[in-house]
Amino acid sequence: MSDALTLQARALAESASRDLHEASGEAELARVKSSYLGKGGSISALLKQIPTLDPEQRRGAGSAINEAKKKVEALFVERRAAIKDEALGASAGHVDVTLPGRLDWQGHEHPVTRAWNEITDIFVSMGFTIAEGPEVETDWHCFTALNIPPGHPAREMQDTFYVDDNVVLRTHTSPVQVRTMLHNDPPLRVICPGVVYRRDNDITHTPMFHQVEGLVVDQGTTMAELRGTLAAFARAFFGPKTKVRFRPSYFPFTEPSAEVDVSCPFCEDRTIGCRVCKDTRWLEVLGSGMVDPAVFDQIDRPEYDSRVVQGFAFGMGIDRMAMLKYGIGDLRLLFENDQRLLEQF
Ligand code: PHE
Repeated sequence: MSDALTLQARALAESASRDLHEASGEAELARVKSSYLGKGGSISALLKQIPTLDPEQRRGAGSAINEAKKKVEALFVERRAAIKDEALGASAGHVDVTLPGRLDWQGHEHPVTRAWNEITDIFVSMGFTIAEGPEVETDWHCFTALNIPPGHPAREMQDTFYVDDNVVLRTHTSPVQVRTMLHNDPPLRVICPGVVYRRDNDITHTPMFHQVEGLVVDQGTTMAELRGTLAAFARAFFGPKTKVRFRPSYFPFTEPSAEVDVSCPFCEDRTIGCRVCKDTRWLEVLGSGMVDPAVFDQIDRPEYDSRVVQGFAFGMGIDRMAMLKYGIGDLRLLFENDQRLLEQF
């Protein structure tokens, strides 16, 4: 009887070892283990028979069965570790499609770039083409050709960075008008966006900023066209309800000249305490006027005979337009590249 139990215990240990090796997952492994060692397991059943043996037979059979039990337990632990390792190894190098996605950080346009693109898009849709010119300009292109001769008091309107006596960092994009007329015949409809420089630095001025210049030259061009063009632009940029107001002004290169105001887009409902327009309800956004014949006379080309062609020109600060449209209170913020500001656009 005891020999029979010993033999059975060894046979069970062997078949358990086979079954545990074949088990292909942790759950199956646990099932195999419990079919030998669990309450109704086959090795447990052998253990229950020990009390029925003669006392002198118990020792031999008992130790054989215990050995079988230990062997199965040890093998179970070993196999469980191996199965875990296999699972890890299998997932290395594979994409776990159940993990939540990692979102890429998305860049976007700087508010000035955005305003630049919006402004140029509006004029392009009206039939304007884009022209650009150098940021380092000759004195002649920047001033003289624009009816601001040396010694003219108007030169003091712009605090200029001089490279030398005859070369400046352009203080406005108007010299691109001059360059365009020197190289192209009328009729002209161009806008000239670009970087400009002035010796100025406070809450509404930075030494470097951006302007868009517009120039139309044709026969029979009138102030009415200037007004219509700028009003259409203002409505496209600030919204269809925008009102436009023209105030007489002075620029050396236009005559007559007008400053253009738009109704404040931030206080349509007449709230008081508007920090953008300071309750004036109007925002000054553009300089404009009919091209002064003296400017055409500087362009030494018969196509620009001031008795034959007329034109209008306008200019605006792109940064200021961005501040007004996006409600930014300090111009300098635009050039500090602070993520906390830029992220909001
Ligand atoms: N160039 C002018 C400035 O910088 C703006 C302007 C352009 C005014 C064209 C009238 C016509 O202030």
